[in-house]
Amino acid sequence: MKLWDVFEKRRTIRRFSAPPGEQQLSRLLKAGSLAPSAGNKQAWFVVIVSDPATRERIGTIKHTQNSAFTPDTETGRALLAAQKEVFRNSTSLVVYTFAPEDRDPHRYDMGSAWLFVENFCLSAVAEGLGSQLFGLWDDFEQQVNRLLGVPAKYRMVVGINVGVPHPDYRPPEKRYKAEVKWVFRETWKEAD
Ligand SMILES: Cc1cc2nc3c(=O)[nH]c(=O)nc-3n(C[C@H](O)[C@H](O)[C@H](O)COP(=O)(O)O)c2cc1C
Repeated sequence: MKLWDVFEKRRTIRRFSAPPGEQQLSRLLKAGSLAPSAGNKQAWFVVIVSDPATRERIGTIKHTQNSAFTPDTETGRALLAAQKEVFRNSTSLVVYTFAPEDRDPHRYDMGSAWLFVENFCLSAVAEGLGSQLFGLWDDFEQQVNRLLGVPAKYRMVVGINVGVPHPDYRPPEKRYKAEVKWVFRETWKEAD
C-alpha cells in the first residue's frame, strides 16, 4: 500500500470483529519502534492487554469517565456506547513514557512516545487492521495503572485498541479545519 493511501485510509475504528494476529501485532510494534525519539531514548513502554476480562474492566472505566461529559443526544449515546464496545474483539495496548519524580514527563519523551503511536496506527492500516486511541485521565488513569501494575515512575500517554475493523462499521464523515485557520506564512496571521 502506498504511504499516501495509508494516511487517507487511517480512520478511528470503534468496532472490531477480531483481534490482530500475533505476527501482525509484532510488525505493528516493530513499526512503532522505528519512530524517531529524542536522544534515541525510545521513551515508550507498552502493556499489551489480550485478556478479555481486563479489557472489559478498562472499557468500563473509560465508559464511566466519558459518561460525565458526553451529551445525552443520539450521537452522544452512540459514541458513549462505542467507548465500551470497542474493547470487545480487539487487543488493547496502553502506552507509557518516563515520568521523572520531580516534574511532568519531558515533552520530548512524551512526543517520542506519540510518534511510536502514530507509526503503530499507520502500520495497522497497511496490515488491513484498524485502531482507536483512548484517553484516560485523573483517577480513571490511576485505576488503569493499578489494574496493570504500572510503577509510578511511568506516565500514561494513551491507549490503543487494534483489530480487524467490523464490516458494518462506518466512521463518521471527517470534518477538516480550513488551512487558513492553522497555516501562517512568515508571521502569525489569524483570520478574522
Ligand atoms: C489524543 C487523542 C485522544 C483520543 N481519544 C479518543 C477516545 O478516548 N475515544 C475515541 O473514541 N477516540 C479518541 N480519539 C480519536 C479521535 O476522536 C479521532 O482521531 C478524531 O475524531 C478524528 O477522526 P479520525 O481518527 O477517524 O480521523 C483520540 C485521538 C487523539 C489524537
